[in-house]
Amino acid sequence: MHHFYPLKAIKVRKETNDSINIAFEIPPNLKNEFSFKQGQYLNLRFVFGDEDLRRSYSIVNAPTEGNAELEILVKHLDGGKVSTYLNNELKAGDFIEVMAPMGHFYTNYHPSNEKTYVGLAAGSGISPVLSNLKEALYLEPKSKAYLFFSNKSFDQIIFRKEIDELAEKFNGRLKVVYILSREKHFEDELFEGRITAGKLELLFARFEEIPIQGATYFICGPTEMIKGISDYLKNDKKVPSLQIMYEYYAAPDDEENAEMSDEFKAIPNLESMVTVIIDDDEYSFHLNSKKNSILDQAIKEKLPVPFACKGGVCCTCKAQVLEGEVFMEKNFALTDDEVAKGYVLTCQCHPTTNVVMLNYDV
Ligand code: FES
Repeated sequence: MHHFYPLKAIKVRKETNDSINIAFEIPPNLKNEFSFKQGQYLNLRFVFGDEDLRRSYSIVNAPTEGNAELEILVKHLDGGKVSTYLNNELKAGDFIEVMAPMGHFYTNYHPSNEKTYVGLAAGSGISPVLSNLKEALYLEPKSKAYLFFSNKSFDQIIFRKEIDELAEKFNGRLKVVYILSREKHFEDELFEGRITAGKLELLFARFEEIPIQGATYFICGPTEMIKGISDYLKNDKKVPSLQIMYEYYAAPDDEENAEMSDEFKAIPNLESMVTVIIDDDEYSFHLNSKKNSILDQAIKEKLPVPFACKGGVCCTCKAQVLEGEVFMEKNFALTDDEVAKGYVLTCQCHPTTNVVMLNYDV
């Protein structure tokens, strides 16, 4: 499990001035391994000198588009080693190590459905939202979709050409609203600013045909936006939680400077013997509860642990606690149900008992 495969980048196209669109060729022998659901993501691996870096990027295509390729979007982040390399140096024909698709940011579609889907995306958060909306529109001829999409300026609207073509192709079944945070481009003030709960209230008033409580929502963007909008939908508009799907940006470059929380400061200071099961093999190491995360220590011990974002976002480092207890600093990926069953994100975990055993083979 969690293997990386070398995939050839067959298209590398500048999407905006600070993002690129990469298409990977999927060889026939990997078709099954790389079959995917709308809204899933790919983990990419890069070895720069003695650094082993992983990053996750959402797939942009929809499965029913039937491409033999998988596309991702990579936005350049200031100081981001991987995004800088990909934006500045990657060329068609290069190979990258890629893990099979993962993630749960999707719902199931059926041709008989007659539903309304609302996509709320900011910047590169468009990828998994667009993948879902396309799948819905292709598979469900009676369903409709709305896309509320914020970017800094008109020139920086990611996939604008493709989105406009889709709106035309689906002939009224897809309505798109671009919202610009740093440019006054449209006459209407509704299309300025950011997507917040207040903005969504105004959008609902403008598009009053949206069945607010009956619609399904896909939200992807910064933490603040996701929290604000999902709280508003759940608490103010009484939208059932199952109809609100969200995916956080994977932002490892920011996470490295994150401060220790008060809850983490309060855990006991103890030495623990941690045992991890990976691909049926058991490995043990000592770890102080206040020091490295379980994942970081396992990497330091050169164990073959799966990981990508290291920020509690992508879920690649998921394991199940079989013995003892751990403290999980952040969790943007596991559901409450998974947490109740003992699943944890090991990049966010510290032991809080002297003996801990975790199983990565889950
Ligand atoms: S590595 Fe992404 S959640 Fe832990």
